[in-house]
Amino acid sequence: MRVICIPPRRRGRNAREPTVIVATALTRIPGMPEADHGKEAKEFHLDVPAVNRPFFVKGAGALDWGMQNRLARVFNPDSGKTVMLAIDHGYFQGPTTGLERVDVDIVPLLPHCDALMLTRGILRTTIPASFTRGIVLRASGGPSILKELSDEKIAVDADDVCRLNVAALAVQVFVGGEFETRSIHNLTRLVDMGNRFGIPVMAVTAVGKEMVRDAKYFRLATRISAELGAHFVKTYYVADGFDTVTAACPVPIVMAGGKKLAELDALTMAANAIAGGAAGVDMGRNIFQSDAPAAMIQAVRKVVHENATAKEALAFYESLRTKP
Ligand code: R5P
Repeated sequence: MRVICIPPRRRGRNAREPTVIVATALTRIPGMPEADHGKEAKEFHLDVPAVNRPFFVKGAGALDWGMQNRLARVFNPDSGKTVMLAIDHGYFQGPTTGLERVDVDIVPLLPHCDALMLTRGILRTTIPASFTRGIVLRASGGPSILKELSDEKIAVDADDVCRLNVAALAVQVFVGGEFETRSIHNLTRLVDMGNRFGIPVMAVTAVGKEMVRDAKYFRLATRISAELGAHFVKTYYVADGFDTVTAACPVPIVMAGGKKLAELDALTMAANAIAGGAAGVDMGRNIFQSDAPAAMIQAVRKVVHENATAKEALAFYESLRTKP
């Protein structure tokens, strides 16, 4: 039995006496859990020490939970690597070959990618919201293919980034380009925004036509990006010294695809990049401009997640492509 005393509402002449209720059985307060009437001897596993598990993404061990969780939506926790499908080309060159109808040609590929890199326009209009893997949102833009491409600005606000529940932001950095400083400033502003909300930033090293694509350049561009806060960096593969690019960069390097190659050459490039320390690929044209995009992305997965050789992956591609 419990006695509950409810105090009077008012003071002064009209004050009421306190109300006393005698409750024989107290019902539980709505919304609160039942009392824990579990077994007497609880299991605290006193012999099992708690473990601090290191986070699997390079350079991300000191990041907050939300940031790590988002990185785990980009990099597959089983292999530690990613097959990211890049379809953001329209942000500066309009309806690129293979991306004329994203709904028809790209949506069927979604089950095969770990993450999808794209603009918010295509995301909102065309990608089903039931897609739960990583969205890597193109966050810089401005000039079209007709103008100076390095003249980019930040192209999205923090509130829209949160609204879209993205896993990471992508920003172009033009080291050595005409608007180098502005592009680096875009990166650092986005890193500040990302750090505020727990959203990682991927720097994309863009190389001007007149610049030499060698390991020395990519060491410079990727290291600057990481030093200034990028959480991972997308960069091109170079045959000579790619492992020095990945070694000198304290965050994961994801290999950029580049222009369309023959399938065996693209798979060889991906396999070499993985062997050289890349944490995955972010490929566009070499997947969606392939004769058989679904077969090609699955072949790329074999290389990235299962360490298949390029020849093994090509055989897999052929087997899928010729399947009736
Ligand atoms: C440009 O620099 C963008 O990041 C691209 O639109 C895209 O991601 C490039 O992909 P790929 O070279 O593999 O077609």
